[in-house]
Amino acid sequence: MSLKTRRIFKRLTFNTRFSLWSLVILSIACLSCTATILWFFNHALPSDYMQYAEALEEEHFNAIINSLPPKTEEFSKRNCQSPNLPLETKFIHDHRPVPMPADFCWKAGGSAENWLRVSESRVYLKPKFSGSSCTAEPVVWVDDQSSEFGSARPLRSGDELPSLGFRASCQSPDRTSRHSSVYYGVKRATSSAAGSRGGSPTDSSELGNVIMLGLDSLSRLESLRSLPRASRIMQDRLGAITLQQYNIMGDGTPAALLPILTGIREADMPESRKGFAGARFLDDSLRWIFQDLRDRGFVTLYGEEQSAYGTFQLRFHGFRRQPTDFYLRPALLQQERLQTNAICIGDEIASARMLSAVKDLFTLYPDRPKFAFTFFSSLSHENQDLSPMDAELVKFLDWFEAANLSSNTSIILMSDHGQRHGPLRNSMQGKLEESLPLMSIALSRQLMSRKKDAAETLRTNANRLTTPVDIHRTLLNLSGLRDSTTLAAGGASLTSYSLIDEAVPETRSCSDAGIPTHWCSCLRLKKIQEPSSNELAVRAARFAVNQMNSATEPFRHLCQELQLGNVTEAEVSLASEDLARRERHVSWRYVAYNAENSALLAAGYLTLRLVTEPNGGLFEASVQFGLQRSRFGSPLLLLSSTSEASRINRYGSQAHCVTEVAPHLRKFCLCRTGVSDSPS
Ligand SMILES: *[C@@H]1O[C@H](CO)[C@@H](O)[C@H](O)[C@H]1NC(C)=O
Ligand SMILES: *[C@@H]1O[C@H](CO)[C@@H](O)[C@H](O)[C@H]1NC(C)=O
Ligand SMILES: *[C@@H]1O[C@H](CO)[C@@H](O)[C@H](O)[C@H]1NC(C)=O
Ligand SMILES: *[C@@H]1O[C@H](CO)[C@@H](O)[C@H](O)[C@H]1NC(C)=O
Repeated sequence: MSLKTRRIFKRLTFNTRFSLWSLVILSIACLSCTATILWFFNHALPSDYMQYAEALEEEHFNAIINSLPPKTEEFSKRNCQSPNLPLETKFIHDHRPVPMPADFCWKAGGSAENWLRVSESRVYLKPKFSGSSCTAEPVVWVDDQSSEFGSARPLRSGDELPSLGFRASCQSPDRTSRHSSVYYGVKRATSSAAGSRGGSPTDSSELGNVIMLGLDSLSRLESLRSLPRASRIMQDRLGAITLQQYNIMGDGTPAALLPILTGIREADMPESRKGFAGARFLDDSLRWIFQDLRDRGFVTLYGEEQSAYGTFQLRFHGFRRQPTDFYLRPALLQQERLQTNAICIGDEIASARMLSAVKDLFTLYPDRPKFAFTFFSSLSHENQDLSPMDAELVKFLDWFEAANLSSNTSIILMSDHGQRHGPLRNSMQGKLEESLPLMSIALSRQLMSRKKDAAETLRTNANRLTTPVDIHRTLLNLSGLRDSTTLAAGGASLTSYSLIDEAVPETRSCSDAGIPTHWCSCLRLKKIQEPSSNELAVRAARFAVNQMNSATEPFRHLCQELQLGNVTEAEVSLASEDLARRERHVSWRYVAYNAENSALLAAGYLTLRLVTEPNGGLFEASVQFGLQRSRFGSPLLLLSSTSEASRINRYGSQAHCVTEVAPHLRKFCLCRTGVSDSPS
């Protein structure tokens, strides 16, 4: 190893908030290295995130390029290694969102208590407010962008819901206090109402109910971190199987929900965008699963929070007709307009209302097959702590289980994509997590007994590369629909699979699955021969050792500095170039867009086994790397890490001096001679 390498940035600490100013100041100070600074700006990482950039000489740069997996196959064939991302690391642990108490709304909304509750098609005044007089103005659908209130009628406790959504206005008997809020719920069938448009469910024994609970911006791993209780119930009590490499097909929510609901990728959809010539309503140009299901006698429900940013209404023309029997959008448009904060409706958590509408759907229509699709975003979209949502989901799943619904209802907990905000955002882990959202499927017992190998097939597919288009086929299969016009319409050249019926080929690649390389989570692997003399492996290993030393630095009077002894094994995992180059900037709360770091030539991970001296420590470490060549200056090797190395041999009494003061450093600490046990 040549030691000539110039280390141009050492232990760079960078704070997001000041990154813009730093950029300005540094750009002025150093015009020639703007490109380098831009890289750090783009990465805008939290202050304790550790990264180095090393300038490389041509010869070393070429040696490193040669250690990378060959490009020839370019993610086309048999080249999809799923990333093995850590669930918890110190970095992730230290950057959790601020905890939100489960009773947040009850506390925050104490003064704005809700006077009414809706249950099973009726409205009740809470006992405390009985005697109040109320009126109800029904919410009337105008079109998919707007709704309005109809004329007011008196409303008494115990009345049948005046309409799916309504604004209640109440005053206390002494007229000193008032309450006004938009409520909604599922209405009991009348002869002309829900679902009677559809065909009769003649062969209903084949049909199965489906509940989809979606949360905006939740990677599979993040669901385990932030919905720990609901995830556990799904898995342990309802037997849910979670897809490990469920990969998005494009940016944002439409790219995830459109394929699920229509079988068509956003990239292939007919023109429906606002402001584009010839654009049509989504239900005029596409066949939606809701229609297939209604034709078979299903009662359908669709609700999505944050209606002002509707998945199909913000950029697209939306639906010409209400797509489901119970379409919550008109009511949510009015309700959310009145909400003072996005999370609570009065003293209730907003998501509770939608979950209760789903419960009522199942209670009020026992004899009809049912399909409910709900999408929650009030908490998760902003990268907030999800404890209140976890608590609501737990209540819902407890009810689901107690009502014996798993006998004939499959339930899915899912998301559209991983987090796009937050500290991990532009790290390799963050990019891969963004590409791998939650998709957890619990099959009904009825389905498992009718189709004995459904669970086994799903379990196999859980470890294969899967997409939202597969979920569309799977949903049709779960609900017992055999054939669908949607499949014909979805034709294109994409092969999709029903995940309970067909095994996805092990060799499926992103291009086979129609996943653009920007979002492709597949990695290419290569084992490095002779790692102890490999430029990339040795530099990355030194970085890992520096990280250990930096952890023990505050205790240097106790712990010795370590040196790299040897690198015994190294494996490179290379991400798709496009995924690596993807950058996400958040310039304002809702504005997130992509840019590209075009100077980045390659990026991925190195998994290393290394030896440190003088303590003879054996470690496993994972280091993220990037190779960059800008128009100015030397090529750069960028090294960063979100996780600590793990020690794989025993350290015995080497670290006796920190057992009390810094037990987390035991694996990295070799106590100086003569240092005795530190006092606690
Ligand atoms: C599903 O099961 C519930 C409870 O076991 C039952 O009441 C209902 O009729 C069933 N529904 C369908 C569509 O099979
Ligand atoms: C649950 O439903 C299944 C099938 O519908 C039925 O056989 C079973 O007895 C039910 N269990 C309870 C506790 O109601
Ligand atoms: C899924 O669909 C296939 C093909 O349409 C059909 O053969 C199979 O029986 C279906 N599976 C279930 C569980 O309905
Ligand atoms: C370093 O590790 C390699 C691979 O295990 C081994 O062949 C080599 O002898 C080691 N070098 C030293 C100096 O220990």
